[in-house]
Amino acid sequence: MAIPLLLFGVALLAGEAAASNDAARNRLARTDCARGAFKDYHLQGQGGDPPADYKGRVFKLSQDYPVQIPPPEHYPWLDVPFRDGGPADPQAYLRALLAYGLEGNVEADFYVEDNKVRKWYGMPWMDWNTEVASDWPGTDGREFVHGFTHEFDSSGDTLSTLQHEFVDTWSGAYLNDRAAFAVGQVYCDPNDPQPGALNPDPTGLNNFPDGAFIIKLLFSTVTEDELPIAKGALEWTADVFVNDDPRWRNEGPASRFARRPGKIRLIQIDVSVRDERSLTGWLLGTFGYDGNAEGASPWARMVPLGLQWGNNPKVTFAQTCAGPDGPCDRSKLTEQWINEDAAARLTRAPLNFNHLGFGGRLAGPVDNAKASCMGCHQTAGFPSAPILPEFSANGAVLKLDAARRPATDQSFRMMYYGNVPSGVVFSDSQLYSSDYSLQLSMSLQNFASRRCGAQAGGPDAPQPAICGRLGAWAKAQKAQIDDLLSFGAPGPQGEPIHGAR
Ligand code: HEC
Repeated sequence: MAIPLLLFGVALLAGEAAASNDAARNRLARTDCARGAFKDYHLQGQGGDPPADYKGRVFKLSQDYPVQIPPPEHYPWLDVPFRDGGPADPQAYLRALLAYGLEGNVEADFYVEDNKVRKWYGMPWMDWNTEVASDWPGTDGREFVHGFTHEFDSSGDTLSTLQHEFVDTWSGAYLNDRAAFAVGQVYCDPNDPQPGALNPDPTGLNNFPDGAFIIKLLFSTVTEDELPIAKGALEWTADVFVNDDPRWRNEGPASRFARRPGKIRLIQIDVSVRDERSLTGWLLGTFGYDGNAEGASPWARMVPLGLQWGNNPKVTFAQTCAGPDGPCDRSKLTEQWINEDAAARLTRAPLNFNHLGFGGRLAGPVDNAKASCMGCHQTAGFPSAPILPEFSANGAVLKLDAARRPATDQSFRMMYYGNVPSGVVFSDSQLYSSDYSLQLSMSLQNFASRRCGAQAGGPDAPQPAICGRLGAWAKAQKAQIDDLLSFGAPGPQGEPIHGAR
C-alpha cells in the first residue's frame, strides 16, 4: 500500500508547482487576442486549393488558442516516478505519452477539432514552410487534406536496401491545450508575433508551461515493397508531390512542385512533453511502425523505440562508438532509454529502420542518422540556429564530416549534444528561446520570410516589431564579427580601430 500512496504524493507535488507557476503566467497573459487569422494550407485562395473533383475533407487549422492556461490534468505520465532527472520506468512513461496523444484523436482521424475528450491545436504559419535550405521557398507548406508539411526526404537505401529511390516524409504535429496557450500568447496579435511571450512572465524562463505536450505523426510515401515492415501500416491520402525526388524538384521551375492526392503510410510517431521533473524540463520519445508486431490496429503496432530526457553532454563519440558505423556501447548514455530489441530487429538486413543517432543517442528512423532528438530540438529559438553542427558556419570552417569523421572536433560538436534547460537560448546568435519547439521557431521564421522582406505588405503596411528586431540583430551580429577582426589591432596613431564605425 505504501507505493501507490507515495506515487500519489509525487503527482500532487508536481501539480501544485504547476499551479503556482500558472498563476503568474495567467496574470500577465494577454486576453485581447485576435483569433482565426492564420491560413489553413499552402497557397490557400492563391491556387493551392483542392481541385474541383476533390470530394474529401479539407484541413482546417485548430487555432482558437486559450488565453488562460487550462488547469493541469492528472496526466497519466505523472504516475511514473523519477530518479536522477529521468523516469524510473521509461517504457511505461513513453507508453503513457502515446496513449494520451492518441486518445480521442484516432477516432477523429486527427482532425483534432473533433476530439471528444479534450481540445487540440496546430501551429500557425506552417502553410508557408521551408524545411530544407535547398527547397524552394514555402514549398514544404501544409497540404490541404490533413495539413501535413513536407519534411526531410530519405534517399535510396536509407530505410532498407530494397528502397532504391527517394521517399518523401509528410508530417503533422498537434498541441495540447497547455502548449497551445503559450503559442497563442506569442501570436496574440497575428500580425505582430512576440517570440518572448511564450511565457508571459518576463521574470521567468521563456518556456511552455509544465504539462505542455505535442504529438507528431510522420508518414512516408514508402511502400511495403521498399520497406517490408510497412505492411498493414495506416494508409492515408494526402496532397503530396507528384515527383518524390527533391534534387529534380529543386532544379525548378515551380511546376516541378506539383502536388496530387496520393497514398502515404504512418511509419513514425514522435511525442514531446514538458515535465518539470526532467533534468532538462523536457522528454522526447518515438515510436516506429512494425507490421510484424502484435496489435489489432496499425496504431497498436507502433513499437516504442526510445525516450530521451538529456544528451549526456560529456560523453564524446569515441567513448561510445568504435568507428563511424559502430559498433556502439550505449551504457554511458544514461539520460535516455533505447528499446534494444527493436534496435537490433529493425536494422537486420534488408531493414535499416535505424533510430540511433550521434554516438548512439536517440533519433527517429526518418531523422538524420548523426543527430539526436534533443540535440536538434534544444536549438529551437528565434532567430533560428543551424540544427546540426555540420549545418553551422563553423562546421564548414572545421570541415566537419558526420558520415566519415563523427568522432573529431568534439569540443565544437558537443555543444550540439548539450542539455539546454527548458526556456534558455541555445546560442548567443539567438534572441529568444522557443523552448525545444522547432515548429515554433520555423513558424516565426516563416512569418518573417513573408512579412519582413522588401516585397512584404506594401509601403504603408505597419512593420511587425519582429522585423525591426531581426534587422537590428543582423546589424549587431555583423558588427560584432567585424570588430573581432580588428580587436586589439592599433590604428596609425595607436588608437583602437575596433568599434570605430
Ligand atoms: C535533424 C533534426 C531533428 C531531429 C534529430 C529530430 N527532430 Fe523533431 N523536429 C525537427 C524539426 C525541424 C521540426 C519542425 C518541423 C516540422 O515538424 O515539420 C521537428 C518537430 C518535432 C515535433 C513537433 C513539435 C515541435 O515543434 O518541435 C516533435 C514532437 C518532434 N519533432 C519530436 C522529435 C523526436 C521525439 C525526435 C527523436 C526521435 C526528433 N524530433 C528528432 C528536427 C529534428
